[in-house]
Amino acid sequence: MKSRVLVTGANGQLGKTIRELSSDFKHSIDFVFVEKSELDITSSESLELFFQASNFDYCINCAAFTNVDLAETETEKAINVNANAVKNLAINCKKQDIILIHVSTDYVFDGKKKLPYIESDATNPINFYGESKLLGEEYIREYLDHYFIIRTSWLYSRFNKNFVKTVFNKLKNNEKLTIITSQKGTPTSCNDLSYFMLFLISDAIKIFGTYHFSAQGETTWYGLGMQISKYLNKNSNVTPLKNYPSKAQRPLYSVLNNNKAEELLQKPLKNWEDSVDEVIKGLSNKSH
Ligand SMILES: NC(=O)c1ccc[n+]([C@@H]2O[C@H](COP(=O)([O-])OP(=O)(O)OC[C@H]3O[C@@H](n4cnc5c(N)ncnc54)[C@H](OP(=O)(O)O)[C@@H]3O)[C@@H](O)[C@H]2O)c1
Repeated sequence: MKSRVLVTGANGQLGKTIRELSSDFKHSIDFVFVEKSELDITSSESLELFFQASNFDYCINCAAFTNVDLAETETEKAINVNANAVKNLAINCKKQDIILIHVSTDYVFDGKKKLPYIESDATNPINFYGESKLLGEEYIREYLDHYFIIRTSWLYSRFNKNFVKTVFNKLKNNEKLTIITSQKGTPTSCNDLSYFMLFLISDAIKIFGTYHFSAQGETTWYGLGMQISKYLNKNSNVTPLKNYPSKAQRPLYSVLNNNKAEELLQKPLKNWEDSVDEVIKGLSNKSH
């Protein structure tokens, strides 16, 4: 029998990627995609009505307040979307016996570690976005047994606004860029993350809990910019910059250890360079 899957926040880059890949899973999954205008997850009444009227097996929550700098000042909004609404989602999932697949972030860590973070490492967010996302995680663990919390990092895709697309478009216009070298992490393609989440459903994985999922390897934002400039033959357009002032602090090191996800998948994850090349190849083909 097919699994019925609700995808919230479907107009974000991850939601759009899942929608794009959904046809590959049409034999095992029936999808319902809802954007914020159709289901605002901060409205507990709408959530309850929506969940009562439907019959889902899974909910993939792609809805979030993701502007890290803005979260420093719009704290109430960040908490409402990233924590309070997630608590309500968890409560409704519990009531209706739905498995929740929720996306969290590398920014729950403070970045003081020198080796890739494992799932059980101590959390200690250094910005409000990270704090709000961590609270969301904690609510899920408190209210649910049947959940997957997937922490990921530096997401990009061909959709919406993201670092890879912005750098690609600027370099295509021959702009000069200075990009910071101070933070180390791993860029993750929404494609790769979506396949992992859909694998959990299509293979009926029941080893619930928290997982880290990024590409393999590590780099800086400058390194990521250089990967794009190499592809476009524009290396001389990109200059390294030590740091750049921003409203929110970000962890200096937020590489995730993916061993747990790899064990489930029983294969190694892709290198970040290969996944970036795949997406920029798609962007290049589109812009011809
Ligand atoms: N982007 C990254 O680098 C990154 C890194 C690590 C983890 N993550 C996590 O990955 C997940 C997906 O991120 P993303 O990059 O796809 O984010 P995104 O493109 O910003 O998408 C988030 C979506 O959530 C929607 N949304 C906001 N408030 C909502 C509400 N109250 N009810 C329903 N929908 C709402 C947004 O709609 P509007 O735009 O209309 O507000 C947007 O379409 C998030 O949980 C994020 O925290 C992201």
